[in-house]
Amino acid sequence: AKRLYHEKVLDHYSRPRNVGSMNKKDLDVGTGLVGAPACGDVMKLQIRVDPETNKISDVKFKTFGCGSAIASSSYLTELVRGMSLDDASKVKNTEIAKELCLPPVKLHCSMLAEDAIKSAISDYYTKNPKARSTNLGGTEMKIPVADAMPEAAAA
Ligand code: FES
Repeated sequence: AKRLYHEKVLDHYSRPRNVGSMNKKDLDVGTGLVGAPACGDVMKLQIRVDPETNKISDVKFKTFGCGSAIASSSYLTELVRGMSLDDASKVKNTEIAKELCLPPVKLHCSMLAEDAIKSAISDYYTKNPKARSTNLGGTEMKIPVADAMPEAAAA
């Protein structure tokens, strides 16, 4: 019989890493809560950030969802621990899907993990606006690009 899940998924599913929560009121904690409209699965991912280095010192997750979503979030927590916020915000769902050998129908499960880390980082920046300005020196550079887009679409 064809196996539905790759052994890496089963490994993370049966021994999920870093399950739990943090106090979302802590200033050094960023919380991402995202859902997949297609299936109704929900993922909560929290990061604790060292304000000195802008690196992720701790990660916790809780996922109400399928095996691939649980495995994706578990793997993601291992991947982003110790990463700078800049690097963590660049993590792509395809990277997660590749590591876990997810089939195409399960790609949205890894997308949930990408959305969750992005949302946790953005929550952290909302609570710590200064971290964003020191970290993303390129915000000024990004504005002209965004401005140019509607004009290009109108032309
Ligand atoms: Fe929806 Fe996996 S089936 S997250």
